[in-house]
Amino acid sequence: MTNYTPHELYINGRWVPASTGETFEVFNPADGELVACVADASSQDADTAVDAAFNALSIWSKLTAKQRGFFLKSAGDALISRTDELARLLTMENGKPLAEARGEIAYAAEFLFWFAEEGKRVYGEIIPSSVPNKWRMVQYQPIGVAAAITPWNFPIAMITRKIAPALAAGCTVVLKPAEQTPLSAFALCRIFHELNIPDGVLNCIPSSKPANIAEALLGNPLVRKITFTGSTEVGKQLFARCADQVKRISLELGGNAPFIVFPDADLEQAVDGVISSKFRCSGQTCICANRLLLHFDIAEEFIVRLTEKVKKLRIGNGLEAGVHIGPLIDRYGCTKVDMLVQDAVSHGARCVCGGKPVQNSDTLKGYFYNPTIIVDVTPDMAIWRHEIFGPVLPVVTFETEEQAVHYANDTIAGLAGYVYTQNLCRIYRMTEALQYGIIGINDPVPSTPECPFGGIKQSGIGREGGRHGIKEYLDAKYISIGI
Ligand code: SIN
Repeated sequence: MTNYTPHELYINGRWVPASTGETFEVFNPADGELVACVADASSQDADTAVDAAFNALSIWSKLTAKQRGFFLKSAGDALISRTDELARLLTMENGKPLAEARGEIAYAAEFLFWFAEEGKRVYGEIIPSSVPNKWRMVQYQPIGVAAAITPWNFPIAMITRKIAPALAAGCTVVLKPAEQTPLSAFALCRIFHELNIPDGVLNCIPSSKPANIAEALLGNPLVRKITFTGSTEVGKQLFARCADQVKRISLELGGNAPFIVFPDADLEQAVDGVISSKFRCSGQTCICANRLLLHFDIAEEFIVRLTEKVKKLRIGNGLEAGVHIGPLIDRYGCTKVDMLVQDAVSHGARCVCGGKPVQNSDTLKGYFYNPTIIVDVTPDMAIWRHEIFGPVLPVVTFETEEQAVHYANDTIAGLAGYVYTQNLCRIYRMTEALQYGIIGINDPVPSTPECPFGGIKQSGIGREGGRHGIKEYLDAKYISIGI
């Protein structure tokens, strides 16, 4: 347990129990130990939080961008100064290695810093009129109450990526963090609370029944914006339900990232790149390499070099020094990954390393999966089509650039894609041809607060980060003045 376990919901500037008095438990995925008991928000709590957020709009939206930015910047500073304790908390609820958790705290703070400034640049427009007696302009205003539904894989950074632009724009927020990882969310709210952010501007209502909370938020006309990161399946349901009240929605959904290596790549750099991309957060990121596409000429050598390094990755409790691979988030996640691997093997694929969950022992009691490289994969296998969300890398070889593009784009997902090559003309051709919202060329981790993050096709709608990110929380108001 830590000081950052308030157990209670954060509504209207107060820490309160759930209206039902119910709680749920949070477990450490590395050892199954109980980490905390948390108030279990009900639909009624969701409505109370929305009312609070709605009432707070009159104060928050009237502050200047500079004043709002002060809260964001100060919260970012507080995150940085408490990195050690927050990173431990994050590792305890999510399982990722401490070094990654520390990186996530810094990443989370960067969204706060970026949007603290970007809020000041919400410029309107004056549009030259087509008639002589009218003056035309556009003003941007906060949408209103934004509901943020956030995932467990980045328990704090995916929150700041949403709430920083929302708050900077002048919106107020009801946050429903993932039930697996509510503690980092509470820690962040505590920081804003200590900064005396006005009551109701930020509310936090975790729940063990996320569908009920989502339903309450969707049905409440005071909520004008839904922002969600999570599965494509749930995203589609939210999207459909937003139609009823024509709510604005941003969706950051599943990926199926190709990681393409051409013979003209720096192979060592590419091996290290695919390891950073694939094994970050034990392969549980939406943008991680999901399919490795190797040119036939370098495939054998590449797999030898990659396997050598992957075998050295240390699996363990993220709190221990030197651990590279933490557990998967829960039993379901581990079973799903293993089913995809076994299905591929039963259809003729072969594991070069890994290929099964880690046997539980006195030191490893959680949902660990052995880092796996799987060859002889064909594009008709389930593992090629589904987001794996685990430390498993299926490999396919190709002979021509056209074939690589065809394989890469042969998916309903369109979040991130990666290319390794030193050929400038190929870089331009691949950038043009790949159907993805984010392209990393010789760059395995392109995410950054100042650039737009988001997918095309069924990977989502809208963008987070950069100047694009704040637009998601603003309405354009066109004004025509007869003069
Ligand atoms: C994600 O998994 O969607 C987030 C990854 C990132 O921000 O780099």
